[in-house]
Order: sequence, then C-alpha cells, then structure tokens
Amino acid sequence: MIALPTETVYGLAADIANEAAVRRVFAIKGRPMSHPLIVHVADASDIDRYAVDAPPEARQLAARFWPGPLTMVLRKSAAVPYYVTGDQDTVALRVVDQRMTRAIIRNFGGAVAAPSANRFGRVSPTSAEHVRDDLGDDVDFIVDGGPSLVGVESTIVDLTGRVPAILRAGAIGRAELASALGRPVVRRRRPGNVRVSGTLASHYAPRASVVLSDARSADRELAKLLEDGVRAVRLVLPDDPAEAARALYASLRELDAAGYDAIVATLPPATEANAAVRDRLTRAAAPR
Ligand code: TXA
Ligand code: MG
Repeated sequence: MIALPTETVYGLAADIANEAAVRRVFAIKGRPMSHPLIVHVADASDIDRYAVDAPPEARQLAARFWPGPLTMVLRKSAAVPYYVTGDQDTVALRVVDQRMTRAIIRNFGGAVAAPSANRFGRVSPTSAEHVRDDLGDDVDFIVDGGPSLVGVESTIVDLTGRVPAILRAGAIGRAELASALGRPVVRRRRPGNVRVSGTLASHYAPRASVVLSDARSADRELAKLLEDGVRAVRLVLPDDPAEAARALYASLRELDAAGYDAIVATLPPATEANAAVRDRLTRAAAPR
C-alpha cells in the first residue's frame, strides 16, 4: 500500500481497477464501503474516460482549476467500478497540483482512488510523518512531498444536478466557482442520496475534545477548564485564511501529541475564504 502527497492532504492510493487494493484502502481506513472514494486522474482529458454525459461546466471548471483542489462529481463511465463509488452511478474526479504525484499517475496510465491517508473520522495528514503516525505498518511506502500547501481537503462540487452544488467546502470558494461558470452555485448542507463522509457531523476530529468559543470568552473558557483540572489549551491559527488552512490539521495533531484533553478554538470570521476552516473546526467540535 502506498501513500501519495497532494497539495491538500496525503492520500492512500489504489488502482481503481484493482478490487483487492481498493478494498484494502477501505479496510485500513476503517471506512464503510458505502462511502465513495475520490478518483485521481492525470488531466482534464481523462474526464471522458471516467465520466459520461459530463456537462460543459466540467470542462470549464477543469480548465480554470485543474490541477488544483477541486473535485467534480459526474456520472461515472463503465471504467469506474462500483466498489469505488459506494455503488453509486456517480464518480468524484480530481487532478492534483503536486508534481510527483501527478507524474506517478500519468506514468501509471490509469486512475487512482485516494482518500485521505488517515483512519476514518480522524484528522487528515498533511505530511509524510502524519501518515506514518496514523497508519504505521499498514502503509508500505510514503512518497514524501513535504508539507501539503493547501492543508484542507479539496472543494467537492456536484455537477449532476440542475444547479452546481458544493458538497464539501475547500480552498476554492463558491464565488470563484460561480464566476468561472457564469452562473450561481449552491451550497448543499444536507447531501440528499449522496454519501459524503466528510459531511458527517463528527469528522476530522483529534483525540482531544474540541470546544468552540467566541474570541471574547475563549480565555474564560480555557480558565474554567483548567480550574476543573482538564488539560486544556487554546488553538491559535494565523489570521490569513490560506495560512490558517495550511496550519489547521498539523496544529490539532501537535496538541494531541502534547497530551492535551481539550482544545479551545475560535471560528475565524464568516467569510468565503474561511469556509473550509470553519467547516472542519465545527465538525471536529461536534458530539462524538
Ligand atoms: O483533497 C482531497 O480531496 C483528498 C486528496 C487525497 O485528494 N482526498 C479526500 O478523499 O479527501 P476522501 O476519500 O477522504 O474524501 C472524499 C470525499 C468523501 O467525502 C466522499 O464521500 C466524496 O468525496 N465522494 C467521493 N465520490 C463521491 C461521489 N460519487 N459523490 C459524492 N461524493 C463523493
Ligand atoms: Mg478524509
């Protein structure tokens, strides 16, 4: 089993045509087989190989955002087995902006299913070390591409409905997608019949519990926890939205490793650029 770097998070990779390898990915992650995997391809010309009836929007978005942190949900072609898509007729496609990984996929000549290389429900890895810490000997090789530059998972946009819909917030925001398409894009909070594990209320969670607090009461919240004998700490993220995204998972992992039991976090301002970090922090804080 191998793990590959991407600009978002590290992925645990399997040839989509190799059923045993794909099943092993689900098993290692502890992820239910009904939760579909993202399929990574070499470039936009692969859309027609792995999708059918792709709308013109797919090509527009690919031209604008690929390689990059955007995943598109399209109707799948026969080249995508159902064990990859959780038995759904759709496929999630992405071209990563990571030179080595893209070269590996291109030279391989096929498509690579790669969910984040962490155990199900936990914080995604943004370095080779994170992958090793999480998955240990379950992964044979890790291609070390250094720290992931984006740091949170790709934006997922569903192009199979009447209106393009964002299923998971990422570095590419709703306004950017809408302006590239010249039409509105909606944010689907409750995925209808589509299963997206990243949209489960509790996900992306460190071992420590995460307590959300507004900026003004965070210090009081922290003091209260410490008084109660809880090993608590404040999560401080950079103000710049891109830097905050890059630091988020590594910071949560560091605080976990330092042995804290509670992490007091403040959501960054409710702007488009902060959507992904707000989303991940909210899910990390959800009841488990
Ligand atoms: O940034 C990323 O997207 C990373 C890197 C490795 O590329 N990958 C990633 O994969 O986050 P994973 O498997 O952890 O998350 C994939 C998400 C899941 O929430 C899954 O349910 C959703 O994509 N997904 C996959 N296929 C889908 C489909 N056909 N329809 C709707 N959602 C789908
Ligand atoms: Mg994941």
